[in-house]
Formats: sequence, structure tokens, C-alpha cells
Amino acid sequence: MMLRSSRLVLASLLLASHVAVAEWPQSVSLDSFVATEQEIALQGVLANIGPDGTKVPGAAAGLVIASPSKTNPNYFYTWTRDAALTLKTVVDEFMFGNTALQVVIENYIHAQAALQTVTNPSGTLLPSGLGLGEPKYNADGTRYNGNWGRPQRDGPALRAIALIQYSNYLISQGETDKVKTIIWPIIANDLSYAGQYWNSTGFDLWEEVSGSSFFTTQNQYRALVDGGNLASTLNTPCIACAQAPQVLCFLQSYWNGKYLVANTNLATSRSGIDANTLLGAISVFDVNAPCNSPSLQPCHSRSLASFKVFVDTFRNPDLYPINAGVPASDGVALGRYPEDTYFTGNPWYLITLGAAEFLYDVAAQWDTEGTITVDATSYPFFHALYPSIRANATYTKRCKPITFQKLISLTTAYADSFAAVAQNYTPADGALAEQFLKTSPGTPISAERLTWSFASFVSMAHRRAGKFPPSWVSPNTTLPTTCEATSAKGVYAPATAAGAPNITAPCTSTVLFVVNATTYYGENIYLTGNSSDLGAWNLDNAQPMQSSKYSATRPEWFAEIPLTAGQTVSYGYVRQEDCGQPWIWESINRTLTVPACVEGSTAVLAETDDAWVGSVGSGGGC
Ligand code: NOJ
Ligand code: NOJ
Repeated sequence: MMLRSSRLVLASLLLASHVAVAEWPQSVSLDSFVATEQEIALQGVLANIGPDGTKVPGAAAGLVIASPSKTNPNYFYTWTRDAALTLKTVVDEFMFGNTALQVVIENYIHAQAALQTVTNPSGTLLPSGLGLGEPKYNADGTRYNGNWGRPQRDGPALRAIALIQYSNYLISQGETDKVKTIIWPIIANDLSYAGQYWNSTGFDLWEEVSGSSFFTTQNQYRALVDGGNLASTLNTPCIACAQAPQVLCFLQSYWNGKYLVANTNLATSRSGIDANTLLGAISVFDVNAPCNSPSLQPCHSRSLASFKVFVDTFRNPDLYPINAGVPASDGVALGRYPEDTYFTGNPWYLITLGAAEFLYDVAAQWDTEGTITVDATSYPFFHALYPSIRANATYTKRCKPITFQKLISLTTAYADSFAAVAQNYTPADGALAEQFLKTSPGTPISAERLTWSFASFVSMAHRRAGKFPPSWVSPNTTLPTTCEATSAKGVYAPATAAGAPNITAPCTSTVLFVVNATTYYGENIYLTGNSSDLGAWNLDNAQPMQSSKYSATRPEWFAEIPLTAGQTVSYGYVRQEDCGQPWIWESINRTLTVPACVEGSTAVLAETDDAWVGSVGSGGGC
């Protein structure tokens, strides 16, 4: 207690005097650090959730904002992924006894019901669920129109997982009716989305590459299994959930013989060595699952092999100078993937903490199963941990208790060493940014007070303390004999009992906007107009146009946009300059009457043939 208060005093002194923020000295024991930081991290999470979050004024009720940072980078949005992963930890914390958090969970539920109905650049909820794949929304819950890596198909699955865990808790408290009428309709939409689109490509969790992503597939599988179980408890159908065995079959395809490849079916090439796979394993963790479960738990041989390959990649001091000289038996600072260049590519708190969590999970699973199996696949992991270990051996709690316990304690110590790396780079005030620099002294960088970083700390601390979420894996899961690229047509409806507006399927017609506008390199054309789908004349929400058909003879910019049928809209084009000079508007307003819609069609039903009217821009020379 003493220690903790002096720490906090130190933190406020440092902040008050604007001295560079000191880091946690390694002389503070890991136990005290974790105890103090866990509380700071939980408060950090809550401070980023509307409507009362002290760091995010203006955020709507129940919306989890990624970070209070509004510039470089602007993370003042709600991402479905970050929010759901955070809520999963909040639900854990609630179930471990922090009952004050129930209101946060309830706010989240109502906010998500409404968010599901928001029409956005990925599409609409009705009739085919496409809008659920939208990665992020404005902090007030409105659509975000800017260019982005969309759709991202992990979000609905993660949200379903968090909501199902809470629903199971409510059922255990006798609140089955509430679950069935209020929460299930939200979950059902998300499950429909997973069952319909699991085999379609989308952007990965880092929002950069479009293809198939291990993290997405693994969470889709879990959502469909969890969903199937909840549906039978509620005695309601889940057609999408029957896709689970095929999703599981597909999940196996990410293995390349050496490690689980993070992204497949890509146009670009990468090693596929990526935190994606370790974050996937911890998000589907079930302490009672057998290690050979095809759900690919942390203790699965393939997960262990991938973990070793991934961590070793970052031991390279040319990649991360900060890891130079760290003994091979100790944890190091970890980033997203070795080719990363975002903010020059640095270690991330949530990944370094995720590695600690992964290893606590592994140790807990071995302990529950009472058996540790070393096979050819996992041997490199074990060998690094315990050089005298034999390949192809099984150590049981009963028959080989000494080696068994030794492996558990070595793994736990290895986990602690990753947590200690995080301690080393955590500022004295405990605020966890997104990244810390890969060069000494590892200064925090990119988004400050990242909600997901805080949540990952709380989750790591739970596992370290032996607190586990409820089980979900069936021990007898088998794989289909052949994998098939199936899909179940989803059923979507607004979750009105939870507060969603009672929307009906919009009647939209796709309009192809085409304008000839000669631009200089670095200048972009946007479309805006008076309707909400055109951004209501607000440049923050203007629609970006594409220049892939641009040539010197035909300087064409275009955008395909579904618009509510029958309305007459005013619209115009705007030039965005290269160095932040003021936008340049056209000198006229144009009008267009959107043609009648054809149900279920996304075909282009009208096309403009415009030419820029007004002054042109010139490069700012920045
Ligand atoms: C923002 C994304 O959130 C981040 O993951 C990505 O690396 C950068 N854009 C660059 O594409
Ligand atoms: C960038 C990360 O790559 C992405 O995973 C995350 O959703 C956003 N930042 C917001 O935190």
C-alpha cells in the first residue's frame, strides 16, 4: 500500500512539472507492479468509454473509444474489435466480482444494438448484414466515410463472444428471458454475419491486408460454437452456427509445417509471422480444453511452435535494438510483425503483455490436463525452455511430477519475464500507449492511453492470478473429413428490444459518380452532398473518389455509392490539397435524382458524366 501511494505521488509530481515521464524501476517487484498497474489499467479502460469516461468527452453512451488521441494518430473512434475485446475483459472482471461494472456492460449492449443498424460504407444491416463488417464509427455513433481497410470480419464474432459470455452469466442468475428478448437478437445478427461471410476475404486485424486472417477465422469459429450452445439453451435456432465445423476445418489450413501463417489468400507477400496468431490463441483460451483440440489453444503444439518462431524474430537486435543482449531464456519486447512500418514499426504493449498471457494460459492448461506432450512440432519451444528435455515424450503430473512441475514453473517464469518487459517500459503514471520505441529508452509512441493496451494488462493480470473465463470447448471436437467452402445465408433484424431503431431494408440504388478533374500528384478528389450518405456537406465525412482509371487524356475520378432511391440530392466535388492547404470547392452545386431501386441489386443504376467546374489547386511543396 505504501509503495503504491508513493508511486502515484511520484506520477503526479512528474506530470505536474512536465518532466519526461520516468519508467517503472525494475527494483519494484513484478507483484507490486502488477497489483498497482492492474487498477490503473482498469480505470484507464473506463475513462475511455462514453458517456462518463473522463478522457473521452463527447463519446456516446456505451461506445468504447480506442484512445483519446485526436491527432497523429486520430483514434477518437470506436472500433468494433477493440471495443469487443475490451468488453470481454470487462465481463471477466465483472464475473470475478467487480459488480459495479454491470452498468458499463449494459450500456455497451444498447450501444451495439443501435450501431448494428447504422448504414456505412461497408453496407447496411438489411437485407444482407454487410454493414456489420464496418471496422469503426465516429465517437457519436455515426458512420465514418473516410478511406479505410474494410470490411473487417472479426468484429461481429468478437462482439458475439463477449455478449454470449455475459448472457451465460445472466442465465445462471435466472435471467433467461432478458437474454432471449434483449441480447440474443444482437448476437444473432453477428452470428449470421460470421456464418455467411467466414469464407469471404476481408481486412486483417491490423487493417492493412485483405485476405484470410487466422485471428478472424479462429474467433469466428469460437463465436459459432458459443452461439450454437447459447441457442440450444434458449431453445431458438441458429442456422449460422452449423457452419462451425467447416470454419474449424479452414482454421487448420493456416499451418505451413513450421508455424501458423497469419494471413493467407493475399495479393501481397509477407512472412506471415505475426502477433495475429498469439492474440487469436489467447482470445479463444479455455483452461479446460485439451491441448490437442483443433480450436488451436495456447498449449497446442502448433501454437507453441508459432509462438517460438514469432518471439525469436523479435530477438534480432537489427530489428529491435532494444532487445539486444536479452538472454534467450527471457522475454523480449514484441511488435505486430517484422515487416511493420506503422510509426516505423515498434513493440506494442498489448502484444508484449499478450505473450505473457499466452504463457500463463499454457501453464494453466497443462496443469488442468495433467499432461505435457513434447512432439516434433513443439520440441523447439520446449528445448529453449528446458534444454535437457527429450523430444517425443509425455510428462504427466502423476508419473513424472518433477519434470512436469519444472516445465510449469519455467513457463510461468518465462511469462513473468514478458510482463517485466512491459513493466520496464511503462511510464510512472501507468498510462499505456499503443507502442514504445524499438530503440532505447523505449519511449511510448503512437496513440496515448490505448484502451486495448489497458484491457490487455487487466486480462494478463487475471491469468497471472489464476482467474479464467468460462469454458467453451467441447473435448470431443472432430474435424470434417473434407473442408468445404460453405456459407449460410444470414437472417438480420434490428435488435429493437435493446434499443435499435426499427429500420426497414433501405431501397438503395448504386450511382456511379464520374468526374473529369485534372489533378497534380498528391491532390485528391472527394464527393460530398446534402444527404447523410454523401456526408451532409461535412468534409470529414465526404466520400473519397478513386483515380485508378486516371490518364492524361481522361483525368477520371470515380466513386460507386448506394443512395436512397427516389430522393433528389445536391452534390459537388472537392479538392483535397497535398500539404493541408484549404480544400477547394467547385463553384457550382449539382443535382441528381436517384433512380428507383431493384431489390437485392448492387448493380450501377445511374452514372454521372461531370467535369470539374471552378478553380484548381497547386502543390504546397511540403
Ligand atoms: C491505421 C491502422 O489502424 C494501422 O493498423 C495501420 O498500420 C495504419 N493505418 C497504416 O495502414
Ligand atoms: C490500429 C490497429 O492496427 C488496429 O488493430 C486497431 O483496431 C486500431 N489501431 C485502433 O486501436
